[in-house]
Amino acid sequence: MTPPLLSIENLSVTLPVRGTHRTVIHRVDLTVPAGTAVGLVGESGSGKSMTARAILRLLPRGAAVTGEVRLDGRDITRAGAAELRRLRSRDVAMVFQDPRAHINPVRTIGDFLTEALITARGVRPRAAEATVTALLHDVGIPDAARRMRQRPPELSGGLLQRVMIAAALAGEPRLLVADEPTTALDVTTQSEVMAIIEEARAERGLAMLFITHDLPLAAAVCDRIAVMYAGTVAEELPAAHLHGRARHPYTRALLASRPDPTDTTQRLRAIPGRPLSAFEAPPGCPFAARCAHPQEICHAERPAPRAAEDSLVACHFPEAPGAAVLSGDRSDTHD
Ligand SMILES: Nc1ncnc2c1ncn2[C@@H]1O[C@H](COP(=O)(O)OP(=O)(O)OP(=O)(O)O)[C@@H](O)[C@H]1O
Ligand SMILES: [Mg+2]
Repeated sequence: MTPPLLSIENLSVTLPVRGTHRTVIHRVDLTVPAGTAVGLVGESGSGKSMTARAILRLLPRGAAVTGEVRLDGRDITRAGAAELRRLRSRDVAMVFQDPRAHINPVRTIGDFLTEALITARGVRPRAAEATVTALLHDVGIPDAARRMRQRPPELSGGLLQRVMIAAALAGEPRLLVADEPTTALDVTTQSEVMAIIEEARAERGLAMLFITHDLPLAAAVCDRIAVMYAGTVAEELPAAHLHGRARHPYTRALLASRPDPTDTTQRLRAIPGRPLSAFEAPPGCPFAARCAHPQEICHAERPAPRAAEDSLVACHFPEAPGAAVLSGDRSDTHD
């Protein structure tokens, strides 16, 4: 059997903080088959970005990684510097939330875009310029020649994010890791940038790991969804089942805290308590303190992910698919 394009197995990451090591990712398993899109959702601090960065080892200094990250079945967690450079310039490309933090403000857009092609791929400058012009056209920037002479501060956030997508596509990657690529943009620009990503994926058969806070957006653009909580994957399921068949109380609570435009009678329910980071998680289920109906075992034993139909759920008492989104009285908050 052909291995999936990306498979993350038992991944844990610790970061040094004031003399100790803090766990930020705890035993994450995740698979992205070629050409598919997997959404990584969850509250702030749940470990979405660290999981994405661990793939290409773009982690803070002193980070310790255990487990495996396989690309086409080959473990890349111990890749040397040259192999990592090759992976970053070819197989896997990243797009981040804030393009300005990832681009040198004093160099021209043209230099930024052509550099990787010239240095990493040995493309001649003229040919690199032609490639980049075509890519800019693909991401909706028609006046490429003028834009290439400009510097990042002269471009709006939306235009700059298009430039970053063009840069990501330049290496002809097979996997795009997009970490909240539209969060910093206004609503109109957000949908334009998402449309560009979708079009680029469709044309190139590109796989994507898509990180977002926006559950409906994740459900709309992804094939599968992984819901992270406290550095672990709480539930992983087909995107089409997110609304009707989610079984983890955390997934249900996240859905209930979002407005449903088709239901005018619905009241939003905030999830009680605050999200935990992995290093704060007590023994037992990390969500137990915020769950509507925790049992004794939930506080004592961490639930292992269990297969249910075509999903995985890490819960001792997964809710029945199709039941009311939230059962129990959520008004008695825990904090
Ligand atoms: N440089 C760092 N040093 C120490 N801890 C960090 C560092 N960066 C992130 N963390 C911690 O790692 C955990 C996971 O963070 P991560 O950035 O992956 O969350 P996230 O799910 O991407 O959140 P957000 O939605 O806010 O982007 C958090 O507890 C965070 O505080
Ligand atoms: Mg993040």
